[in-house]
Order: sequence, then structure tokens, then C-alpha cells
Amino acid sequence: MRKYLVYGANVSGWIALQMLSDDQQVIGFIDQAGTSAAPGIAGRFPIYQSDDDAPPSVMQEAQGILVAVGNRTVADEIKDRLLAKRPEMVVESVYDEQYVAAFLKARYLLLQEQRGFQMPVELYCAVRDYTMVSEERLDNVYRLTKEAERSRLPGAFVECGVWRGGCAAVMATVAKEAGNGRVIHLFDSFEGLPEPTDLDGDLAKDYSGGRKTGRLETIGKCVGPLDDVRELFFERLAIDETKVRVHRGWFQETLPNLGDEMEPIAILRLDGDWYESTMICLEHLFPRVVPGGYVIIDDYGFWEGCRLAVHEYLERQGLQADLIPIDDCGVYFVKGKS
Ligand SMILES: C[S@@+](CC[C@H](N)C(=O)[O-])C[C@H]1O[C@@H](n2cnc3c(N)ncnc32)[C@H](O)[C@@H]1O
Repeated sequence: MRKYLVYGANVSGWIALQMLSDDQQVIGFIDQAGTSAAPGIAGRFPIYQSDDDAPPSVMQEAQGILVAVGNRTVADEIKDRLLAKRPEMVVESVYDEQYVAAFLKARYLLLQEQRGFQMPVELYCAVRDYTMVSEERLDNVYRLTKEAERSRLPGAFVECGVWRGGCAAVMATVAKEAGNGRVIHLFDSFEGLPEPTDLDGDLAKDYSGGRKTGRLETIGKCVGPLDDVRELFFERLAIDETKVRVHRGWFQETLPNLGDEMEPIAILRLDGDWYESTMICLEHLFPRVVPGGYVIIDDYGFWEGCRLAVHEYLERQGLQADLIPIDDCGVYFVKGKS
């Protein structure tokens, strides 16, 4: 029996507890805010505020520490810190190869129950590594595409800013299952983000390493190769290639040359981060969205340039959209309804 301390006593710690095999025994938890421990942990296990807070006998008995927190970057930091401090111990994280699939699946099932997500866990597991979009925003795409299919809303599903394709794959899977022949359009440089401009603010400037002239050159961030998208769409999810149109290149170059290549749009999902990237998509594609169609703005709550572009565009068009929050970042609205 291998004895473990679990670092993190809230919901992620609780999931880790369910995941461990019969030969792994949890002898306690480490959590700075022990008061918020999950119900299955509080009162059942000792909770120490830090590894220094645990009695030496406990640290001696424990053969390993399993880091179980909800954020992968934070988990990596904790793991590195513990490894440096306690080289004699096995330090693992729920994001390590041997745990991650089971951990994320169990976490999604729990979230699904708590937050009423409709997207099936199998689809979530298939797209998870191919998207940087939150579970709330993935579920929003799932629901809106399902609704579009149910109500036979005419037009294509479109994503501008695809990265490795996870979010667009949710759209494509719903369309495939509905079998109405819906076409999916994917717009991306597949080389990453271009330079932001002053309108994107200081955060964007820091993120781009000080580059902010709006040049259409990759800053090396958010690089999602087209091969990854192809692998997900056509190998993993068996999406019909004839229903997918890939527009590779800078929006500023592909959109003005679209012509008749683009039918009306049922769902327009914008995920290009910057002011210029958002504005050019609205200018060229919003007019093609059908009345009652959905417009989703992924970065509205995070990147100020994106938010500015949305407001400027709507004002210029004299439109008053009812922006519905999805989570603390994404919003959507229905065209023709205010
Ligand atoms: C945040 S990522 C998209 C995330 C994606 N929707 C997902 O499911 O994870 C932003 C994407 O926008 C693309 N992008 C941003 N501005 C662009 C532009 N002007 N032209 C082409 N691609 C652009 C980047 O290449 C990157 O793949």
C-alpha cells in the first residue's frame, strides 16, 4: 500500500481521492484554506495548512504527495516547489500522464452535474486537448449549435480563431449528428496571433513582448497547426471533409476575398483576441448572419480591444445587442433581437 498526502482539499482533491487505485492510500490533505475542504474530506481526513505544518511522523509515513488543484499551471508550480524542497519524496500531479485523462473526465462529470452542462462527456474528452476554451464556453457552443439544428436555422457554422480546432469541432460534431448537411467554415492563420495594436491595451502589449504595430506577422502565441485540426476533425471525430472549408491566412487577407465562397451564417463565433481581428470579422461576416442567428464573442471579458471592437461596430451599425454572458469571459447575442 503506497501512502499519499493529497495537496488540495477542495473539489479537485476529492476527485483525486476517487481516482486513486486500491494500492494507494490517502493519509491526509494539505490545503492552505482547509476550511473550504470538500464534504467527503472535511472531518474524515487530517488537513494540514502546508507540508511544514504536517507532523514529521506523517511526512515520514507518506511515500508521496499528489498535487490536485483545478489549474494546471498552479499545479505545476506547486509540484516543482515540492520537488525542489523534498527530493526524497515522490511528487506527482493529477496533470501527469498517468492521471490526467481520468482526472479531467471525472472533473467534467462533476461539473456537468453541478452546472447542468449538456455536452456529452465523450465529446468533451475528445476535444479537451484541442481547445483553450472553458467548459462553460464549450457547453455554450454545444447548446447553440444544437438549438440551431433543432430550429433548422439556415446557414453555416463559422469560427474565426480556431487554434487546434476543439471548439469548432464541437460545432462540426453537432452538425454531423444532425445530418442536415450544414457546412463549417474555419478561419485562422494557423501560425498564431499577429501583432496587437495600441487599442488592445497594455496586457496585450506585454503578452506580445512589446510588439504592437498591428503587423500581420506571428508573435508566436496561440499557434495551432492545421495538421492538429485535421487530426481532430477527420481522424478522431470522422467529420465529413466535404462539409469543412478551411480559410488559411490572416483574416485581413482571406475575408475581403471571400466572394461567393460563403453562404449565410447561422452561428458566427469570434475568437481572434485582438481589436483588428475582431473588427474585420464583424465587418465582413456579421452582415451574413441570418436573423435569429447567434454571434459569440469569446474574448469579450478578457481582451479590451476585442470588447472595444464589438461596441464600436454595434454603435456604427446602430444596433443594440443584448449581450448575454457565458462566463467571466465570453458573451453571445442573437442577431435581430435587442
Ligand atoms: C485564442 S486562439 C483561438 C482558440 C480556439 N477557438 C479554441 O477552441 O481553443 C486565437 C486564434 O486566433 C487566430 N488569429 C487571431 N487573429 C488572427 C488574424 N488576424 N488572422 C488569422 N488568425 C488570427 C490565431 O492564429 C489563434 O489560432
